Amino acid sequence: MGNVLRGKNIIIGISGGIAAYKTPQLVRLLKKQGAQVRVVLTEGATHFVSDLALATVSEERVYRSIFPPADTSGTDYTRHISLGEWADAFVIAPATANTLARLSSGLCDDMLTALFITLRPGKPVVIFPAMDGQMFLSPSVQRNIRILSSQGCRLITPDSGELASGLSGVGRMPEPESIVLSLEKAVHSIANSSQLYGKSVVVTAGPTREKIDGVRFISNYSSGKMGFAIARSAAERGALVTLITGPVHLETPSGVKRFDVETAMEMHDVAENFFKSCSIFIGAAAVSDYRPAEPFEGKMKKEHPEIELTLIKNPDILAEFGMQKAPGQLAVGFALETHAGLDNARKKLNAKNLDLIAFNFFDRKTSGFEVDTNILTLIDKEGVTTELPQLTKDQAAERLLDCLEQFCVTTQL
Ligand code: PMT
Repeated sequence: MGNVLRGKNIIIGISGGIAAYKTPQLVRLLKKQGAQVRVVLTEGATHFVSDLALATVSEERVYRSIFPPADTSGTDYTRHISLGEWADAFVIAPATANTLARLSSGLCDDMLTALFITLRPGKPVVIFPAMDGQMFLSPSVQRNIRILSSQGCRLITPDSGELASGLSGVGRMPEPESIVLSLEKAVHSIANSSQLYGKSVVVTAGPTREKIDGVRFISNYSSGKMGFAIARSAAERGALVTLITGPVHLETPSGVKRFDVETAMEMHDVAENFFKSCSIFIGAAAVSDYRPAEPFEGKMKKEHPEIELTLIKNPDILAEFGMQKAPGQLAVGFALETHAGLDNARKKLNAKNLDLIAFNFFDRKTSGFEVDTNILTLIDKEGVTTELPQLTKDQAAERLLDCLEQFCVTTQL
């Protein structure tokens, strides 16, 4: 299985049962595996384990309330969202009967339950119920377990043995080593079940900059968010992802190999190295179609009332890949259009010999450049068209890759 937890962002949610005292050891073991760990406690958990112990072993602050202190600044007000976005997996151990009830009914009155709702789709949630045996077997706890299982969470049956009450039976939280193993399995099986598992995927992202002189350039509003979301989601599905990006202010998604470039020519030259070896090429970058023919050395002076700028065509990276691709390789493009969008997108799909194209409308409020959301229409080369609603770029990336996986299945690639 290899070390599937290396580089993963893991949240441990701890609720108020006696087994909480074992959780600093769990944090230690996960850190040893190379994971980044952040801890969220319920109020009840603080009776069994201290914030200080968990902050010390995780080397991170510990979270409890959704509400930040009054003197908080910046994005800390919405940390329940940013934590949910950050996490690659969520472990809840121990999960008390009360916490199971709150999770299954969708309550979010503390940080742990709010995170359960803000976690991005497709992320593994592994829950370790731990309580008295009679409580565990009660109809209400069993119903809540069924509800959570039906939502895709993995509920791990507690161990049997001596319980805190002095009675014995089922209800003990598994030892930290066993929790780590269950988490590894969950992360591994999600990645392993994907059509993208083990495939080499190249993604272009962001804008390019074409130099006019030493201090000025032609560019566009691309932030890189869409391309980075695709790279992140593909890596989480077990793909070997290479991300070639123009200048953006985004962190590299975990497990992704990143190349930073500035111009379309540089993006082309890096991409070309992967044309033969990659399985899937996804062009999400907004590559400048033209560049100044002769960029001026140094800074141009304002001495002329007007100047003429001659632009020459840049290579079309995606079209080059589309034309060269061998059977079994897939080319996926985007089409950013302001009018006649679907028609233009279909023309690009054919002209560049693509297998799938994602048309996005340009309004800069709900879709296209810079914003956190996108509205995509996916068209595959068989003509199957899928209109997606307004989604976050992370969700849109998931849906695009789901569609690509489906395409791999139906065309037996
Ligand atoms: O980065 P964000 O702020 O999140 O915004 C996302 C996005 C709007 C940039 C993205 O969703 C998107 O639509 N990217 C493609 C934008 C674009 O340049 O579209 P196009 O219709 O001009 O190009 C068609 C396709 O050819 C694209 O896949 C593009 O990457 C590729 N292309 C274009 C020109 C060129 N010289 N080389 C290319 O590879």
